[in-house]
Amino acid sequence: MKASAIAHPNIAFVKYWGKYNDKLYLPMNGSISLTLNELTSQTTVEFGNFKADQITLNKNDASDDKKILKQLDLIRQLAGITKRAKVVSNNNFPTASGLASSASGLAALTVAACKAAGLDYDKKQLSIITRQGSGSSCRSIYGGYVEWRMGASNDDSYAIQLADENYWDIRDIIAIVANREKKVKSTVGMEETVKTCPLYQGRLAVVNHHLAEVRAAITERDFKRLGEVAEYDSLMMHATMIATKPSLLYWAPGTVAIIHAIGDWRAEGLPVYHTIDAGANVHVITLPENAAEVEKRLRKVEGVNDIIHCRPGGDANLIEKHLF
Ligand code: PMV
Repeated sequence: MKASAIAHPNIAFVKYWGKYNDKLYLPMNGSISLTLNELTSQTTVEFGNFKADQITLNKNDASDDKKILKQLDLIRQLAGITKRAKVVSNNNFPTASGLASSASGLAALTVAACKAAGLDYDKKQLSIITRQGSGSSCRSIYGGYVEWRMGASNDDSYAIQLADENYWDIRDIIAIVANREKKVKSTVGMEETVKTCPLYQGRLAVVNHHLAEVRAAITERDFKRLGEVAEYDSLMMHATMIATKPSLLYWAPGTVAIIHAIGDWRAEGLPVYHTIDAGANVHVITLPENAAEVEKRLRKVEGVNDIIHCRPGGDANLIEKHLF
């Protein structure tokens, strides 16, 4: 009853921010993302005769992590077992960097725990189950370009792969910026936006158009079309965050410095766009031939602490190597 899995986080070009069912994690809109190869979560799960669930994340005890405990309960319920679990999980990226680890973490946990519990689920089922622990994690079940179809019920809200990781090589150069702000977790933040932000309906009115544009840009491998929509969709999501009561401003000074710099570089002819999740770091999207230049320039922007260069990554998968 032991299994291990690896999963990668993803960066959304059309973002998910808000649910119409907070219990089942059913989203207000569909979303499209790219899975990121260089970042990984690896997780081993064993169900056994333990007194209580024991969870270790990046070498620290996290046995009271509500998200993980809830996900283990869901999987136990599906498998009809009551045994407690031992979970060890490591990210290859620093947790303190503020990079979202919930997508890869929950996807790796779900794949490993289902297998360890004796559930031989296909990717669609895994996507439905991991969605209920972290919405964006349902996209991390697949590699490459992935769409989360919003669906109208638990069973039809899941991710599908639009194109695999070898289809189109674009790069996400992640700029890690100095950030002392304590951020509001996405689960809480998005609930507040849906409840209090008068701009929220405005975003919902255009998001299907953004989805259609991004799908078409991927089909045609049209980088400009992809970048323009992704950047606009991200800014629009942040506009709804900023107009939430109380306001959710995830940006740091370095975030704004990069946004300005990218506008200047694009005016000079460099194909480069930004997209930002619920945090201060900036995902800078560019083509492989421009990646080194973009990286060099980003390192000189004030407030940039580190750079992580990501290529398109693959599916979440079971692995042979156990962490304990
Ligand atoms: O599912 P969560 O709680 O990781 O929320 C993800 C929200 C964003 O990263 C801001 C957007 C997205 O679609 O990934």
